[in-house]
Amino acid sequence: MISTLLSRHGRGADGDPAPRLAYGADYNPEQWSREVWEEDVRLMREAGVNTVSVGIFSWARLQPGPDVWDFAWLDEVMELLHGGGIGVDLATATASPPPWLTTAHPEILPVTARGETVWPGARQHWRPTSPVFREHALRLVRELATRYADHPALVAWHVNNELGCHNVYDYSDDAARAFREWLRVRYTTLDALNHAWGTAFWSQRYSDWEQILPPRLAASHPNPTQQLDFKRFSSDALKDHLRAEREVLREITPDIPVTTNFMVMGGTKGMNYPDWAQEIDFVSNDHYVVPGARDRDELSFSANLTSGIAGGRPWFLMEHSTSAVNWQPVNLAKRPGDLARDSLLHVAHGADAVCFFQWRQSAAGAEKYHSAMLPHAGADSDLFRAVTALGATLGRLAQVAGTEREPARVGILFDWESWWASEQDSHPTSLLDYRREALDWYSALLDLGVRADLVTTRADLHRHQVLVAPVLHVVPAELAKELTRFTERGGHLVTTYFSGVVDENDHVWLGGYPGALRDLLGIRIEEFGPLLDGDTVELDDASTGSLWTDRIDVTAPETEVLVRYRTGVHAGRPAVTRRPTGGGSAAYVSTRLGVEGLRALLPRLLAPAGVDSELPPSARGPVELTVRSGAAGRFLFVVNRTDGTVPLPDLGGEVLVGATAPAGADGGPVLGPREVAVLRQPAV
Ligand code: GAL
Repeated sequence: MISTLLSRHGRGADGDPAPRLAYGADYNPEQWSREVWEEDVRLMREAGVNTVSVGIFSWARLQPGPDVWDFAWLDEVMELLHGGGIGVDLATATASPPPWLTTAHPEILPVTARGETVWPGARQHWRPTSPVFREHALRLVRELATRYADHPALVAWHVNNELGCHNVYDYSDDAARAFREWLRVRYTTLDALNHAWGTAFWSQRYSDWEQILPPRLAASHPNPTQQLDFKRFSSDALKDHLRAEREVLREITPDIPVTTNFMVMGGTKGMNYPDWAQEIDFVSNDHYVVPGARDRDELSFSANLTSGIAGGRPWFLMEHSTSAVNWQPVNLAKRPGDLARDSLLHVAHGADAVCFFQWRQSAAGAEKYHSAMLPHAGADSDLFRAVTALGATLGRLAQVAGTEREPARVGILFDWESWWASEQDSHPTSLLDYRREALDWYSALLDLGVRADLVTTRADLHRHQVLVAPVLHVVPAELAKELTRFTERGGHLVTTYFSGVVDENDHVWLGGYPGALRDLLGIRIEEFGPLLDGDTVELDDASTGSLWTDRIDVTAPETEVLVRYRTGVHAGRPAVTRRPTGGGSAAYVSTRLGVEGLRALLPRLLAPAGVDSELPPSARGPVELTVRSGAAGRFLFVVNRTDGTVPLPDLGGEVLVGATAPAGADGGPVLGPREVAVLRQPAV
């Protein structure tokens, strides 16, 4: 879909209709004068830009008053871009409502759990469930879609912007009304709701739907299932807005694909993206590096997860940064090589587009110190030269466009419901970080040079020989059956502490933990043993556990104990177990081993499946390998994870980009610090 976007609409400066990778940025011409626009298009062409997102925060400019429209400037921008051979991913401009609207209708402003109004002054100050906001937003979408329906520059629609970035949780009266409607659809009867929410506890039984509220500031922990349902509802409320805009767009421009930019990164967890992905024509993502240890493992993880959300199909990197951002406590500039490496790492994981926030660095406003493709310093800058070089590199990778990720033998299951539920309050520990757990396993596999795919519960789990499911906390009966089938058909499941514990209503599976997975794992746990922050236990394989321990009893004769606790209250008892099943196995890791501990343990967990690295031993760790394949060939992305020089592993194939550093001591090709090589092998 994405690879054909540009060609289908005959875009491209040279008029070449062949698929290519998209390259560009958010473009905010309304911040600049007309003369600057012409220079923009000229420099975009110089940099190899072929796609820009326009109009994301333009509502106040496009509709200066309730019945006043001003499209003249956008008409001109569209023409200029089209003239430069640059396609437009046109935003619906609904992300930030204009002052006239919030003044006339303050009832569209979100309300926090404490009852405070979220005032205008920044952006995204709107309630996802406000009928008034919806009406005004859809009116704008209709005007835009009608006006630009046949414009030759239009290649895609960009719904709103990062839906839920600042307004995912709204506790207003509109939200309360919509929450009740959502609950009626989910439960039909109050009895069913009372059962699901366990309202016999703390005298919470509801006798009328009108009594139900969002989990606003309360005297103590709000009802856990109410909290979980509010998370589900809040994601659905934003999804509903996405669908409403999409419906208008599909009605008017049925042939123009619709997307919206996700935020698969860091701690963004309010939106259930695997669910949202079903609503759009192609998945887009925004990603920003938060500097720290293993920050590029996190980038790789997010890109990989985005690919999983997109079902392994290509996706669109809508935003990342050329250098510093403006919203971290200290905003570090990127080092030489970071810009290209970060971009290509996304492409390695399936991105068919490399776009940035934003094209030209703002002179005013909250993001004036945020980097851009064209910095304050202008085109005569190392940054713009790096941007231009990247454009040329992406040009050399055009044939990668449209290829899909080649499934890895190892899958890591990332489940939004378990993310939401496992981190709720009033649990055995408040220190659990679901995403960090998954990232630890991913990092350990990277260190071992073993490719792994991040997958969601919507994926066909049977594609993998090993499935790692860290903290799979919510396990409905059907998922337990599916995982059992997976192991019976020869698959090897690895799961961890706090997995299998609750059903979809956040009710504990009784009879001992790990509840729904107890029989499959052949173990039983009577009581959890979380550890205080800083406390650790030693294991008999010389690794160290933290965060959590379990008092494990082995219940099936065939269950093997792989590792035991050496210290702590469970000393001598099992810490890691594995139960062989018909051809497969089900393993359980009861403590947090961290990347080092997992790196030591993983070979034992992978061995029964016969999974090993595809890299030569010396490249395991320093190099990340990903593979995309399709009719155009098999493309191996070889990423230098280090800040030093490493030999380019001999994997065969023609070098399309990379390995530009002088030959190594043995005369063989090398990867410079942070360099990425792309090798092409014939299609299989
Ligand atoms: C994103 C947003 C952009 C810009 C960027 C800065 O969250 O979509 O508009 O604000 O962050 O990093």
